[in-house]
Amino acid sequence: MLDLGCGSGGWIAKVAPNFPNSYFLGVDPDEHSIQEAREKCRLIPNAEFMIGRAEHLDFKEEFDLIYLGEVLYIIGDRQGVINACYDALKPKGYIVVCEAVCDPGRNTWKDENTLVRGALLDYMAQGGRTLGRREISRLLTGAGFTQPREHNMHGGLWFFVSRKTRSKNVWTSAHHP
Ligand SMILES: C[S@@+](CC[C@H](N)C(=O)[O-])C[C@H]1O[C@@H](n2cnc3c(N)ncnc32)[C@H](O)[C@@H]1O
Repeated sequence: MLDLGCGSGGWIAKVAPNFPNSYFLGVDPDEHSIQEAREKCRLIPNAEFMIGRAEHLDFKEEFDLIYLGEVLYIIGDRQGVINACYDALKPKGYIVVCEAVCDPGRNTWKDENTLVRGALLDYMAQGGRTLGRREISRLLTGAGFTQPREHNMHGGLWFFVSRKTRSKNVWTSAHHP
């Protein structure tokens, strides 16, 4: 599986030891985070880390699962990245997006939205912005993924789980013979 924007590898450090027969690759542009991830996972043989940006993702049908944990908010060309994830997944592969979302029209005084507003300020300071649930859903279906299952983790955090149902080439040739 691919952890895109893996930071210092916390997620892989927890998950990889439970799946010793699977390969875990973490990618992040921050050199310091990647060094920390390598150090943290030095005793986990099925985990590897690479410096890289999501926008430069160039894999073809190599992964069963791609995880983006609070990364979409900081990415400029989000649709391009989600499209590249689609290409990088094997048919029937899963994409899991985790984001602090800010939905227009919701009661902004709710506790969880206070948390999201904090995240929003933090994201803005980094040059990013929070997304709405519908926007994330559109990014996924726009790339060809199935309508995502949405899981509310509360505190403003949501998981979106979506699947690649077919290879893009099969889709293209089937619909434009
Ligand atoms: C909020 S942190 C999340 C880290 C990790 N996924 C986690 O859940 O702990 C956002 C991460 O996105 C990374 N990032 C920033 N720009 C990126 C890009 N263009 N492509 C991939 N990752 C990026 C940052 O370096 C940072 O590690």
